[in-house]
Amino acid sequence: MARVSRRAVLKYGAIGMSVTALASGGGVGWAFLDATTDTADRLDFDNALAIPPLADSEVDDDGRRTFALEADIGELQIHPGEATTTWGLNGDYLGPTLRATRGETVAISVTNNIGETTSLHWHGMHLPAAMDGGPHQEIDPGDTWTPTWTIDQPAATLWYHPHPHGATAQHVYRGAAGLFLVDDPEADALGLPSEYGVDDIPVIVQDKNFDRANQFNESPTLMGDVGIVGDTILVNGTHAPYLEVGHELVRLRLLNASNARVFAFGFVDEREFQLIATDGGLLPAPHTMTRIQLSPGERAEILVSFTPDEEVVLRGFPPDLGRVGAWSSRFDGGDDTFDILQVRTASELHSAPAIPEELAPAPDLDLDGVENPTRVFQLAGRSINNEHMDMRRINFATTVDSVEIWEVFNGHATHHNFHVHDVQFQVISVDGVEPPPELRGWKDTIFLPPYERFRIAMHFKNYTDPDVPYMYHCHILYHEDQGMMGQFVVVEPGQEPGLPETDHAAH
Ligand code: C2O
Ligand code: CU
Ligand code: CU
Repeated sequence: MARVSRRAVLKYGAIGMSVTALASGGGVGWAFLDATTDTADRLDFDNALAIPPLADSEVDDDGRRTFALEADIGELQIHPGEATTTWGLNGDYLGPTLRATRGETVAISVTNNIGETTSLHWHGMHLPAAMDGGPHQEIDPGDTWTPTWTIDQPAATLWYHPHPHGATAQHVYRGAAGLFLVDDPEADALGLPSEYGVDDIPVIVQDKNFDRANQFNESPTLMGDVGIVGDTILVNGTHAPYLEVGHELVRLRLLNASNARVFAFGFVDEREFQLIATDGGLLPAPHTMTRIQLSPGERAEILVSFTPDEEVVLRGFPPDLGRVGAWSSRFDGGDDTFDILQVRTASELHSAPAIPEELAPAPDLDLDGVENPTRVFQLAGRSINNEHMDMRRINFATTVDSVEIWEVFNGHATHHNFHVHDVQFQVISVDGVEPPPELRGWKDTIFLPPYERFRIAMHFKNYTDPDVPYMYHCHILYHEDQGMMGQFVVVEPGQEPGLPETDHAAH
């Protein structure tokens, strides 16, 4: 029997959507077998890894650090032949890395030249809802939006990306995203590798599909349940990249900026690395591991040791999606392997600084007297607690300065994850037990394998606004766009939630 291409196979899929079809040995059986992507040892690593430039900034008369971002259409030479049409900020693909220090006030002008209404959200940032860049802060073509806020959180690897309701998946996939690094003096004093692009390397990982004309294929994977799962990896927009390293100890800032794919990152030689930070910043202590799994939107900072004259590949091993079932695992990426980035070291390396034993205070919200759980969120299908996103509905209001405990779980045999705007949260328990080391720092996004119950706690410290909501949602962008999202406001004690503006609500 001829081996059929993955794309052809996807068309057969509609015939029989059950794993039992496997037994029949027909087209669907082949589809199942053929739907695994494995690029291990198949890339030539011919392309130097692009490093997103640090964004220029100026301090204005009011003392605000000002940045200017311009979203535009560009093109990127990814495959031989025709260039791929892309979106970028201040460039063809992705955007510059913004960087600011705790305590600084930033003002960022975002100009939309892409000809479609979009928005730009500061993922992981604590800030007023009106500055958040969610679906209520859309930027029309030709317009400029200039949010401003004071950075008030520990050093962390955050990111920015579009968030227009119903089109987030497309806009992020096309490339309008970048990193936002927050610095603080305590973190600086630790002496961690911190020379940007030298021993402190951004690693933005995204999976793509291409059509025959080398353009991004935006169709959701047909037999899957999570939208686009791509067969080609770009790192900082570079396909099959290598990175030359001149240091014994290197910090990699990993961001899974994919629409749906989950990666279990590790090295092909199984070398250990130290996990030092997750979404909201540094962990209490470095944790030695060989794999770090990231679902869409999550970040991890790892320290990796190298010896002179070596080549080693960072790989995305098949992720552990939990109890998703064989069908979902196969078509939603659970069985795939990707080579991500080849590291080549120089014959002489700068010696490694000592790795501190303690990094930052552990999250320690005061949970005394907090109702446990304060709220419950069940994700299933394309809804949260059986409700689909409605731009005009505030799902709940929380009182300023309160601490809440949320129980979050996935009641569905497909993977989901959960992201909350405005806050970084503390993971209290996973199925009743203490969270693993990678969930012991501040988080804004967590992976939700089917049927596992997470309790997370957060403090809504300030920034009341009864009319402008923050979002909580599944960060599988296809799910989010289909309504797996809700809205909350932070209010003064006794204040009633208002009504969000509905100008652009007609999606
Ligand atoms: Cu990264 Cu609501 O998003
Ligand atoms: Cu966010
Ligand atoms: Cu989901």
